[in-house]
Amino acid sequence: MKLENKTVIVTGGAMGIGKACCESFAAEGANVVLIDWDDMGKDTAAKIGERCMFIKADISDEDQIREVKEEIMRKYGRIDVLVNNAAIQTENSFFKMSAAEFRKVIDVNLIGTFICSSTFGSEMKRGSTVVNMLSVHYDVPRLNKFHYDAAKAGMAIMTKEMALAVADKGITVNGVSYGACRTPMNRGWETSPESRLAAEKKIPLRWIAEPEEIAHFVTVVVKEFSKHATGSIFTYDGGRSI
Ligand SMILES: NC(=O)c1ccc[n+]([C@@H]2O[C@H](COP(=O)([O-])OP(=O)(O)OC[C@H]3O[C@@H](n4cnc5c(N)ncnc54)[C@H](O)[C@@H]3O)[C@@H](O)[C@H]2O)c1
Repeated sequence: MKLENKTVIVTGGAMGIGKACCESFAAEGANVVLIDWDDMGKDTAAKIGERCMFIKADISDEDQIREVKEEIMRKYGRIDVLVNNAAIQTENSFFKMSAAEFRKVIDVNLIGTFICSSTFGSEMKRGSTVVNMLSVHYDVPRLNKFHYDAAKAGMAIMTKEMALAVADKGITVNGVSYGACRTPMNRGWETSPESRLAAEKKIPLRWIAEPEEIAHFVTVVVKEFSKHATGSIFTYDGGRSI
């Protein structure tokens, strides 16, 4: 897909990988809509410049997302790309995790993805595409992030089912799965070199990706492979999932 003057929505674009995606798509000449519930999105969008517009919203709130869609349609009149990136993460042991903690993560990460996909997807035309940001942990088990990993597993099967559901409209849906990346979500690594080293040790290539690398990968998937690939999960993880 040629990205110039296309409308690209990135959820959770205020920081981390979402921010890098906004920068990467804007550099390709797209009109980027950065959705985030954190006001930091305003600064991020301002730094990117006129190609990036910030809209404050919670992706798990259906009414807010419906209003966001109307605002985007008034301004740009089209939606070409949706990157479902926003997510939250907490950590707790199996018996200490409450249903409320579990539910909150599912609500944002999985149901938020569904809300954005169905709401924005209703305006997408033939040739448009959706990218769901997965994690190696949609398939690779670990301890203490049951809710987050269950949400990613849900997103993985939803990627394939959404792809089936919208194929007759000529819209494609793919997932990008990656391993560890240096972002605010992993801010613990800054203060604990031991936990960073432990994360690196689990990666066969022994280094943690930067957000810009993931954003470049996502941009290439959209630009080069979103035409015939659908229901696919592309992996960029330093071998973490082997
Ligand atoms: N960092 C990693 O190592 C890693 C690895 C694999 C997958 N991922 C996935 O990549 C994506 C981005 O991760 P990141 O590390 O950049 O995260 P991050 O925590 O650094 O940034 C997430 C962004 O999403 C926003 N957000 C969260 N909940 C929201 C909501 N309900 N409504 C609107 N905005 C919301 C936050 O404000 C933040 O700006 C996530 O889907 C994450 O699960 C990250």
